[in-house]
Amino acid sequence: IGQNLVTLKEVDSTNTFLKNLVSNSKPLPEGTVIMAEDQYAGRGQQLNRWFTEAGKNLTFSILLKPTFLLLNDQFALTQAISLGVAKALSDVTGGGIKIKWPNDIYHNNRKLGGILIENMVQGTQINQSVIGIGLNINQQQFPEHLPHATSVRQILQKDYDLKALLSEICSQIEALYLQLKAGKADEINAAYLSFLFGLNETRNFRSNGEVFEGKITGVTSRGLLKIAQAGAEHEYNLKEVEFLID
Ligand code: BTN
Repeated sequence: IGQNLVTLKEVDSTNTFLKNLVSNSKPLPEGTVIMAEDQYAGRGQQLNRWFTEAGKNLTFSILLKPTFLLLNDQFALTQAISLGVAKALSDVTGGGIKIKWPNDIYHNNRKLGGILIENMVQGTQINQSVIGIGLNINQQQFPEHLPHATSVRQILQKDYDLKALLSEICSQIEALYLQLKAGKADEINAAYLSFLFGLNETRNFRSNGEVFEGKITGVTSRGLLKIAQAGAEHEYNLKEVEFLID
């Protein structure tokens, strides 16, 4: 992953760019990475925008061809990718890195980055997968509408080399991707849980406009969040529950 690296000065979104390449041109090698110094229409989860300051952060997309995965097992890929990113950042920051379900990267209570995976599906199989990763690295300040954001720079009080970090992340992801390919999804799940924000802690959540106390007990193989509340266990998808972080 990352052997075939294309760096763009500016693009709307590396995910959109890579998806268009894949559907319009001759096949690209698996592991191709498209990186941009600036993105003017970065996309996040749930139709959110993704903001980045030009030249300061990592915004890139990886092309994978996980043809060994059924569509129903796509959460295992989400887990492998978020774990790879979390491990690489954990090495850099010396700890405090968490994965906020399903695939946000946090440092303590602040968001360091996010992941947007877009799969191209054929029947029940995942044909190609565009893995978009956005991480705040050397950005010093964030606009007021992003009060929960942080960066490696804010954590370490110094700049970090973007290319070095990119290659670190790519090799961590590659190792986990190969593990997934080798059928070791259970091990990846265990490691994912060890990074999971709020696991077994009493926390506040909101669902259907109501705030309640509960404890995350794990995730299902389909990627639902399991929360124990008032003596029973419930499973939620992303649209059904919000994890309230102060
Ligand atoms: C999120 O937290 O909502 C996911 C953010 C994903 C952002 C990355 S930046 C590179 C790639 N291109 C995009 O347009 N989005 C992803």
